[in-house]
Amino acid sequence: MTTALSIVNSPLVSLRNVGKTFDSGTVALAGLNLDIREGEFVSLLGPSGCGKSTALRIVAGLGTATEGSVAWAGGAAGDIGFVFQEPTLMPWADVAANVRLPLKLAHADPAAADQAVAQALARVALSDFAHSYPRELSGGMEMRVSIARALVTEPQLLLLDEPFAALDEITRFRLNNDLLAVWQELRRTVVFVTHSVFESVYLSQRIVVMTPRPGRVFTEIAIDAPFPRDERFRTSAGYAGYCRTVSDALGAAMAGAAA
Ligand SMILES: Nc1ncnc2c1ncn2[C@@H]1O[C@H](COP(=O)(O)OP(=O)(O)OP(=O)(O)O)[C@@H](O)[C@H]1O
Ligand SMILES: [Mg+2]
Repeated sequence: MTTALSIVNSPLVSLRNVGKTFDSGTVALAGLNLDIREGEFVSLLGPSGCGKSTALRIVAGLGTATEGSVAWAGGAAGDIGFVFQEPTLMPWADVAANVRLPLKLAHADPAAADQAVAQALARVALSDFAHSYPRELSGGMEMRVSIARALVTEPQLLLLDEPFAALDEITRFRLNNDLLAVWQELRRTVVFVTHSVFESVYLSQRIVVMTPRPGRVFTEIAIDAPFPRDERFRTSAGYAGYCRTVSDALGAAMAGAAA
């Protein structure tokens, strides 16, 4: 049901024939065609170095394509929240000030900003830690702060670059659930980069499997399981089946490149 919906939804961002060659001569992306559809949860899955971060940065406008085009529905780029692999918090500022940063940079009205910060912290269950400092937080809590900071402007598009890769499994599972809850509540578009087959299947409506460098789309797999997803899904035969399918696709993408 959800998958069928995501297929009919119109693209929010369309990458056409996108290529990226760095000044060093490294060709990171070549012929990348990707539609990011309004409201969907899509993962980019691929081996280390295949260009996932490069692609995400191009969507975010943090990097430019050297070939092809990136087009937004309606013409202009929408508001973006970006979550990096490292939480990248300001160590000298407390949690609330870290989350407030995007609003401060945008010169938001202070009272409205207070409210938005409180709401973003509540969404990631950190209301009680507003006045703590990053050094007082666990790795999982730091990542929650980073997610709250990305959500505080209620962006149209949330981009996450392997946000949970450094966390232990239990924390990662919990943050996976929290992220899905936020997505379901806000109904924004999420692009999630990972190299974990298991994580991509658990979270996504659609998985885009990339080839090794230069990265492009090898295949796409719809994960047609309902939301909310929970531990029952994680231990189901359906989940295991999808993991096998996606793992096989990733293997084929690697083999194709080696041939
Ligand atoms: N600023 C840069 N200058 C030169 N080469 C770069 C730069 N950034 C990335 N690359 C190269 O481009 C390729 C793709 O890098 P990218 O970081 O996009 O991969 P990735 O899929 O995100 O990998 P990982 O899963 O390890 O994060 C790599 O070969 C990398 O060395
Ligand atoms: Mg990367």
